[in-house]
Amino acid sequence: MRVPLPGLPEKVTIYEVGPRDGLQNEKAVVPAGVKAEFVTRLADAGLRTIETTSFVHPKWVPQLADAEELIDILPRSPDLRYPVLVPNERGLERALANGVTEIAIFGSATETFARRNLNRTVDESLAMFAPVAARAREQGLWVRAYVSMACGDPWEGDVPIPQVVSVASRMMEMGCAQLSIGDTIGVGTPGQVTALIEALGEAGIGPERLAVHFHDTYGQALANTLAALRAGVTVVDASAGGIGGCPYAGSATGNLATEDLVWMLHGLGIDTGVDLGALAATSRWMAGHLGRPSPSRVVQALTPETETT
Ligand code: HMG
Ligand code: MG
Repeated sequence: MRVPLPGLPEKVTIYEVGPRDGLQNEKAVVPAGVKAEFVTRLADAGLRTIETTSFVHPKWVPQLADAEELIDILPRSPDLRYPVLVPNERGLERALANGVTEIAIFGSATETFARRNLNRTVDESLAMFAPVAARAREQGLWVRAYVSMACGDPWEGDVPIPQVVSVASRMMEMGCAQLSIGDTIGVGTPGQVTALIEALGEAGIGPERLAVHFHDTYGQALANTLAALRAGVTVVDASAGGIGGCPYAGSATGNLATEDLVWMLHGLGIDTGVDLGALAATSRWMAGHLGRPSPSRVVQALTPETETT
């Protein structure tokens, strides 16, 4: 049943990260052909922005070492956007050579994660991103900035909001179009999310330039999403079937499942353009390739009994 709540947007853009954030953390390396079919099925289910892969060091994330091969075989359509992660100039060269038009740089609010994920201090990683953002913009690319560990860090514990705002501001000063707030290990709660969005607003990064990226480790992702929508955010990252995590953040589990998000948004009367049945069928199909059932509650609830026995 559709029952709206006041103060929420009419439409939400879902930024699908399953092929990148989902598959980067799977033990099994999924063949490029299966990844391309995954993206095709996601697009057929109505998703329009799909983060497909990363041009990172192939030894750091072997699951995505086939980035070139995948980009080459993806279906093309003027209304489909395929951002990719790019950490450095080498990654940008690879992305440009493959016709990529949208990239995301990915920083960390904490020193420990910056070292573990990027082999750099926070300052060094920002110095690594600056020429990437500058050249990408010169070439007319759309650039997103992620700031990870925005709600807590497994090694450093609580992360003070001003520390998150500082890294976010430095990344947005590079000319990024959008900032995605990454709760990498899923520890955040709605009051904290609201306070962080307010603090970013006070620093000049309003909700119209924000996206939220919640992992669901502690089951808070939907509650946090609702808090973000109330604060004016209209772009939400999610991963089909709830797959995902970060190989360099041990305690990170799957992202907010796209199906769980769509169920809530449609229940609130918010338009997403997504066909939930087709999406859940895609996640069941992908779960077959990954050899384990989808962790998404909505995918499980929508699975016919004949398939669960
Ligand atoms: P490094 O070892 O310090 O690299 O890694 P380097 O700059 O010293 O270069 C060493 C060699 O690697 C060189 O080759 C480079 O050319 C090569 P050599 O000259 O020795 O022959 N190299 C590359 N080759 C291919 N593609 C590249 C590349 N870069 C260097 N792009 C680096 C530094 C940043 C590359 C590495 O740490 C890395 O790839 N990290 C990526 C980690 C990652 O992808 N993590 C997961 C994504 S983040 C995430 O999931 C969080 C998010 O979802 C939000 C949230 O949840 O919070 C986004
Ligand atoms: Mg993530």
